[in-house]
Amino acid sequence: VIALRAAQEGHRYPVRIGPVAGGLREQLAGRTVALVSCDRVAATPFGRRVAAEVRRGAAQVLVQRLPDGERGKTLAVLERASVQLLRGGLQRDGCVVALGGGALTDAAGFLAATYMRGIPWIAIPTTLLGMVDAALGGKTAVNLPIAKNAVGAFHPPAAVLADLAALNTLPAREMRSGFGEVLKYGALDPGLLRRAAARAAAGRPDAALVAACVRMKLSCVARDPRERGERKLLNLGHTFGHAVEAAGGFRAFSHGEAVAVGLDFAFRLAARLGRIGPGPVEQMALALRGAGLPTRVSAAIARRAGSHLGYDKKRGSAGLGWVLPVASGRGWRVEWDVGVPEGAVSATLRESVGQGLRRG
Ligand SMILES: NC(=O)c1ccc[n+]([C@@H]2O[C@H](COP(=O)([O-])OP(=O)(O)OC[C@H]3O[C@@H](n4cnc5c(N)ncnc54)[C@H](O)[C@@H]3O)[C@@H](O)[C@H]2O)c1
Ligand SMILES: [Zn+2]
Repeated sequence: VIALRAAQEGHRYPVRIGPVAGGLREQLAGRTVALVSCDRVAATPFGRRVAAEVRRGAAQVLVQRLPDGERGKTLAVLERASVQLLRGGLQRDGCVVALGGGALTDAAGFLAATYMRGIPWIAIPTTLLGMVDAALGGKTAVNLPIAKNAVGAFHPPAAVLADLAALNTLPAREMRSGFGEVLKYGALDPGLLRRAAARAAAGRPDAALVAACVRMKLSCVARDPRERGERKLLNLGHTFGHAVEAAGGFRAFSHGEAVAVGLDFAFRLAARLGRIGPGPVEQMALALRGAGLPTRVSAAIARRAGSHLGYDKKRGSAGLGWVLPVASGRGWRVEWDVGVPEGAVSATLRESVGQGLRRG
């Protein structure tokens, strides 16, 4: 077991990477627990094991199933769930156990943040993306019909239990998507990139790699819980990545696939600006392609993504502060709030069109 400690704004919580059993029971002793999951994850061997473990540790268990993925991240779903939990007798001294991918932990975390003005919750992420990103850092949210993650709260969990056994049933595309985010941590730390790229090519993380990513996210969050500065590093690859995700209607590209395209974009943009040489660009592209992730998009996606970037910029300072690498002793380091001339962005955009490896 790798035991890490997270700290943000005076709140501390353990992040355990290892078998879920040991960590869970000590958290539950004698409480009423709302076990929030989706049918798909609950039906996996890991899901069943967690449910059994919760039953052993809790005084009472209320099982709550949300619709799968983004469909579970709505206010209507949480209203329904809250009513059922209230009827079931969940009180302020109870807690939520969130079992699932990032969408599920976002929704169940927000449920915990708002139920009776906030009760504790435990995150059990079951996707790679959840383990290295979504379940960490205390951001919880649901979507509105017109915008993702538009309603939410900062509500750090009481514990995060990441058990790699959960990944046994994870579909390959979801695993790849998680590796998009893992390679982002590699892009933030050249010392990590080689190791991350090797595991990504093998299609399976190990506990040490997950722990390295978790440590990086936790240290950014600890130093900058409200994303005013350093936490922005975690958005590397996300400026263009979000634009690609939106351009594909949130269907053509998974989040990690879009981040992969965005990472390649950020490194090429940095090279065009003379911040790094061709070496890091090549290293990054090889790592992404080796993981089976895309680095290029169709002309139509590029055009739509470009107009998303333009739209962001019109919103002013909240818009385009690029997060970009710059050469330094160990290869490169990454800076945030970098201003970039529009011409460099559009030239890099033109280069992004092509037949880079697509999913499938
Ligand atoms: N709060 C944050 O800081 C933060 C950060 C990053 C992403 N997110 C959010 O995370 C979400 C994306 O998370 P995700 O990539 O984990 O996708 P997801 O939660 O939508 O899960 C993807 C699919 O995999 C299934 N699944 C999950 N675990 C499984 C398992 N072990 N075996 C089989 N199937 C499994 C899910 O049911 C779902 O159908 C987005 O909503 C995003 O906004 C939040
Ligand atoms: Zn991301």
